[in-house]
Amino acid sequence: MREQQGERRRLAVVSGGGTGIGAAVARGLVEDGFDVLVVGRRGDVVDAAARRIADECGRAGAVRAVTADLTDPEQLAAVLDAVDGRTVDAVVNNAGGYLGGPTGTLDEVAAWWRANLDANVLTAVLLTEALRPALRRPGGRVILLSSIAAQRGGGGPYSAAKAALHGWAYDLAAQLGPEQITVNVVSPGYVAETEFFGDRMTPEGHAKRVAATLVGRAGTPDDIAAAVRYLVGPSAGYVTGQVLGVNGGSVFGR
Ligand SMILES: NC(=O)c1ccc[n+]([C@@H]2O[C@H](COP(=O)([O-])OP(=O)(O)OC[C@H]3O[C@@H](n4cnc5c(N)ncnc54)[C@H](OP(=O)(O)O)[C@@H]3O)[C@@H](O)[C@H]2O)c1
Repeated sequence: MREQQGERRRLAVVSGGGTGIGAAVARGLVEDGFDVLVVGRRGDVVDAAARRIADECGRAGAVRAVTADLTDPEQLAAVLDAVDGRTVDAVVNNAGGYLGGPTGTLDEVAAWWRANLDANVLTAVLLTEALRPALRRPGGRVILLSSIAAQRGGGGPYSAAKAALHGWAYDLAAQLGPEQITVNVVSPGYVAETEFFGDRMTPEGHAKRVAATLVGRAGTPDDIAAAVRYLVGPSAGYVTGQVLGVNGGSVFGR
């Protein structure tokens, strides 16, 4: 995957690229001609996703798996090793999720909030900061995966953590704009076919979420990947500091 002299092969790093939305983003970016590093904590999951996407797209060597817990600053070294000095065209901060936990004591409340902030904010901050010097100038792209929960609540510290990404995105967009690097948030609504809900989803919960959309269906990972592909693509260079809701109309733009 090394950058050939004179050859402009674009490189994207997708956190949480082994499953769900991240895997769909990785696949879409490979179809768009990117080389992609998929990052996640479970080595077997990211390895399998990297092999599957490369096979399905007929681009052997285009996808590489990196095993790292992005809440741990020391583990960012594995990502930098895999980048191997190349310029990074796009960082897609997709890793995250809702973490439950006991909340009977203040210590438990603190642990619950820290876990959600770590999983959804720190993962994005550490990956972006680690790769910031390597971003393409001009033309780099940073994407943050937020949630409809940031815009309408639901999920306690998860909503708060995703909302924190919005404020940080505005700051980062202002910092990186003069270098022609864009920073945008993609905020999905209900997306089925991922590991997000685990065994928490019920038929009633699914029906309620579908009924809350204007289009009468659940989102798919490809719905979200399409928005990311647009924002990292060459035609989105004038779009920065924005929150793009992809939610079937469950929440109007704000
Ligand atoms: N599905 C929805 O309805 C929905 C709605 C709104 C927003 N979102 C957001 O969309 C993003 C993708 O979610 P998804 O639905 O595709 O769920 P998912 O299948 O559970 O994907 C989350 C991915 O993040 C990775 N990850 C989690 N913590 C990590 C860490 N500390 N370091 C590295 N990787 C980590 C997981 O892999 P490992 O466990 O192997 O690390 C997993 O591949 C999340 O940020 C989620 O909050 C989802």
